[in-house]
Amino acid sequence: MSVKQILIFDSGVGGLSIFEEIRKKNSKLSCYYLSDNAYFPYGELTKEVLTQRLLCLLTDFTKKHPVDLIVIACNTASTIALKTLREHFSIPIVGVVPAIKPACQLTKNNIIGLIATPATITREYTSLLIDEFATKKQVLTLASTALVKLAERKLSALPIDNMMLQKQLSDIFKEWLMLARRPDTIVLGCTHFPLLKADIELCFGGNIQLVDSGGAIAKRVQKLLPVQCSIGMPQHHAFYTQKNKQQCALEHAFLIRHFSSFSLFLPLEME
Ligand code: DGL
Repeated sequence: MSVKQILIFDSGVGGLSIFEEIRKKNSKLSCYYLSDNAYFPYGELTKEVLTQRLLCLLTDFTKKHPVDLIVIACNTASTIALKTLREHFSIPIVGVVPAIKPACQLTKNNIIGLIATPATITREYTSLLIDEFATKKQVLTLASTALVKLAERKLSALPIDNMMLQKQLSDIFKEWLMLARRPDTIVLGCTHFPLLKADIELCFGGNIQLVDSGGAIAKRVQKLLPVQCSIGMPQHHAFYTQKNKQQCALEHAFLIRHFSSFSLFLPLEME
């Protein structure tokens, strides 16, 4: 049996937080990683533009690089297009959505924070998750594209000033930091945010539980593609959709995470 091949997809480096969890659980899978940086940040796109882009890009990519399963490692894309993508593709599609349910089980003071992209915060999918699982909890929401950009910067080879990073985080979280009764549990509703987990914990003085969906996604992938005796070694290749300085600065983040290449994938032009 040959090595199973999956595609991990995001607008940028956020999917690496999911890749790491998947690799911890199943080191025998080969991964393609596709970062659609040409359309980054997804959290600022309309539903129509994003859905059309996902359909065209993923169809084109999987024609050229066939895979056994796709992980939409992006809350912004999953909360709008999962149903459409599942109807369109015949292979399994695993989506990432905010971990509201586990956060409800963890909170002690019954106040949960949800931080995500502006698009994810306003999605009906997100409201339904809150209505279904957090009826007896107070849920505070915060939309931030700045935090997405900080995660991209953190992973780039450009030097980072930690004092400056803490200052930027305190600005982003200032609404919650000023509260007399703060959330004790925060849902990281964007796959970029676990890449800043230690920094966010520090910003809250360590008095916070951060919850993300990475572990659950890795379990789901494991269930759909169980480890099998396979011939050959897994190989990981990453792609981006637009060449620019920022991508060059991100190459090392992929290479140190077991990817053997990081190259341009030029999708077909959208109609
Ligand atoms: N990483 C993505 C998410 O989980 C999207 C970030 C963006 O491009 O706005 O929502």
